[in-house]
Amino acid sequence: MAEQVVSGRPAISYVFGTSFAREQERLSVGERLWDPGTRSRLAALGIGLGTRCLEVGAGHGSIAGWLAEQGACVTAVDIDISRALWLRQHGIALHEADILRDGLPGAGYDVVHARLVVQHLADRESAVRRMVAALRPGGHLVLEDTDTATTLATADGVLRPRVRDAAYAVMAESGYHPRCGLLDVDLALAAGLLDVRAEGRAEVVTGGTPQGRWFALWLEHLRPAMVGRGLVSDAEVAAALADLADPGVRWLSQVMIAVTGRKGGDEQAA
Ligand SMILES: C[S@@+](CC[C@H](N)C(=O)[O-])C[C@H]1O[C@@H](n2cnc3c(N)ncnc32)[C@H](O)[C@@H]1O
Repeated sequence: MAEQVVSGRPAISYVFGTSFAREQERLSVGERLWDPGTRSRLAALGIGLGTRCLEVGAGHGSIAGWLAEQGACVTAVDIDISRALWLRQHGIALHEADILRDGLPGAGYDVVHARLVVQHLADRESAVRRMVAALRPGGHLVLEDTDTATTLATADGVLRPRVRDAAYAVMAESGYHPRCGLLDVDLALAAGLLDVRAEGRAEVVTGGTPQGRWFALWLEHLRPAMVGRGLVSDAEVAAALADLADPGVRWLSQVMIAVTGRKGGDEQAA
């Protein structure tokens, strides 16, 4: 895992990844939570036969796989491709790279998509600029990152707010930004994109489902750090995990904000 210096102190560039034994499972249940919304937003761009797509921070790779199923010509990149090797059997070009250190593979893409990636990066501006540079003139960038305003909200308030806040406090140490979905709008505008649009979606999640498991794995991964720093007790985390496994408990996800913008420069050709 790459190390970077944020505000004079070393920080891991990504809070999950190889340090979490159940990262494969976490990525898979996250896909079940977020893929339907992502697919409909990408489909609206007219993905079809031969569309050149770059999936950045592909994770387990479901979106790269879905793009290929639509007939797109897909390249995927991640700092750790061990969970996405299956993509190669579907004709997808898979590259292992740290997008901040190594850059992005290829250029001239019709669509570049990154979900739940920019919010973890120390240098978000540079990452977005690189994604825009990888687009052809007229191509589209789609950034999806979360806003945590609604995370674990229930009809009665917030489920285990101390645990929720402790988890975000630990994540912030590695450069994670809790309102990155909103920041992405400014990043897209600053990178010179045109027709920038943004909208958010929050999912209603039920305890004990695969989607609910995504939240449980999030807390399980951060549990040692949250408890070790004295932010919450182990019993508080255990109580939160019991809630998240209870089919009678329902909560709101984060708001997933999808920002779409078009790279200029193709006006004369149009
Ligand atoms: C939260 S996961 C999201 C995975 C996938 N985009 C999804 O939504 O299911 C973040 C992904 O970004 C990758 N990642 C984090 N930092 C990266 C970097 N600097 N360069 C390339 N990939 C990175 C991680 O390895 C991980 O697969």
